[in-house]
Amino acid sequence: MFQGEKKRVTVMNLLFVGDIVGKGGRKAAKTLVPEIRRKYNCSFCIANGENSAGGSGINEKCINDLLGSDGYIDVITLGDHVWAQKSFAQEIKSQKNVLRPANLNPKQPGYGYKIFRVPAGGEIAVINLLGTIYMKDGIWCPFEEITGILNRLPSRIKCIFVDFHAEATSEKIAMGRLLDGKVTAVLGTHTHVQTADAVILPGGTAYITDAGMVGADFSILGRSVEDVVSKFTDGMPRRLNVVEKGIIRLDAVVVSYNIKTGRAEKIQPVSCKIQV
Ligand SMILES: [Fe+2]
Ligand SMILES: [Fe+2]
Repeated sequence: MFQGEKKRVTVMNLLFVGDIVGKGGRKAAKTLVPEIRRKYNCSFCIANGENSAGGSGINEKCINDLLGSDGYIDVITLGDHVWAQKSFAQEIKSQKNVLRPANLNPKQPGYGYKIFRVPAGGEIAVINLLGTIYMKDGIWCPFEEITGILNRLPSRIKCIFVDFHAEATSEKIAMGRLLDGKVTAVLGTHTHVQTADAVILPGGTAYITDAGMVGADFSILGRSVEDVVSKFTDGMPRRLNVVEKGIIRLDAVVVSYNIKTGRAEKIQPVSCKIQV
């Protein structure tokens, strides 16, 4: 290298955070995400926010909380609880960095994928998809949807991150295999439990069945152990309170990718805890 010539960065790290649950999850993310970004030198952060408003859905207040400060979260993806907060159908129209699942009825507001400029260099496409197995009705086939989106993306876009929000492991693995070599990463969300299968697939796509959640460590998917166990025990309908205080666990993955080729080089699961 000649003197004065800058070394070109071709590999960057992106932080992908699992479903953020309630106020406790938002508080924990606010402290932990900047720390993790610094530690792993992450130039971009995508987080699933579908449970951030009281455990179900999202609204403008939560979005302002999550996207509010520099070096924090850059893009929020969603899932099956997308319209749980009534105000959000209107609010999403003015949100540039929030995506809803792409395979919803096209008459529904918002966008399911978008291209973002990474301040440190390059562009990435972020795509949000919803699974069909054990999910709500009226979801268009995510496999057909992603094929159409990839055909429509401009050829200059090499770095593509997919949040596949789905219940069934088989559906998620099938999506990973279908997209291997076509996208940078297929990252699962929705089950709130981080899976131990983070891998770089043979074609160069980073994959994990589920990234996990940002929610109470002593909980059932972020909700009160007592409430959920009682519901399973007596079968009676009841409110399942979100655990907002105590030790909150943040689960995420760091994906290292080549910004020229879009290939993933490494996927590292991250998990840490904080008292809120
Ligand atoms: Fe969730
Ligand atoms: Fe979900």
